[in-house]
Amino acid sequence: MGHFQPCKGRNSESPREHGGRKRLRIAIDGPAGAGKSTVARKVADILGYTYLDTGAMYRALAVLALDRNISFDDPEALGELASSVRLDACEDNGVFRVWLDGEEFTHLIRTPEADRAVKLISMAQPVRRVLVEIQRELAGRGGVVMEGRDITSVVIPDAEVKVFLTADETERARRRWADLRNKGIDMPFDEVLAELRARDAKDLEREWGKLVKVDGAVLIDSTRLTVDEVSRIIIGLCEAKQGCSTG
Ligand code: DC
Repeated sequence: MGHFQPCKGRNSESPREHGGRKRLRIAIDGPAGAGKSTVARKVADILGYTYLDTGAMYRALAVLALDRNISFDDPEALGELASSVRLDACEDNGVFRVWLDGEEFTHLIRTPEADRAVKLISMAQPVRRVLVEIQRELAGRGGVVMEGRDITSVVIPDAEVKVFLTADETERARRRWADLRNKGIDMPFDEVLAELRARDAKDLEREWGKLVKVDGAVLIDSTRLTVDEVSRIIIGLCEAKQGCSTG
């Protein structure tokens, strides 16, 4: 059984009601590079909600599977791995940190190698089953901004605020390329674009938890919007549900 141990009890201190206001669940899905993490983190910060990066959970497991030489063709073995490790995660000074069995994976999960591995592990249904269960439990507490690919469709389809965040393919690849450069990884733009396309294809085609825009999700195209503009739109959606107070 996988476990999520919130850092410093942050998630466990997030009651369903706060100051007489219901603490909502904000679910954000979208393709790689659409700006989900940046925007979700910002919205969570403004609202005092917990930010949950579900991609980081898949990424950490993918890196662990590589370390342990588990075949990506063996969904059952991958599921066994997911259910046997303890997963710790939390947001800390703008970084979403992840530990597996007490070992920190945060700095290993955003490499090109991790990109390739996560594509494969996210296709394994037994892995998805374990992570979806953990994510549902976390969302149940309310006061969360959760982002990924299947949050609006599978994890919390009844979330009060549902968003499908996207952007042009070239712009998404440019953002990813800039991110990698900032981390000292110099990859040709064409390679970054090809990798992004491959990931898009996997996200759209996988049998379980594929990326879809569900009815009721608000489509936001971030190609020409700043992080602040997108965040304001989402907070507006939240306020319209009379659940969010920024003051
Ligand atoms: O958001 P990201 O790029 O860090 O996600 C990494 C991978 O994990 C991505 O290729 C798709 C997968 N993923 C998923 O299948 N389901 C989620 N809820 C989140 C991520």
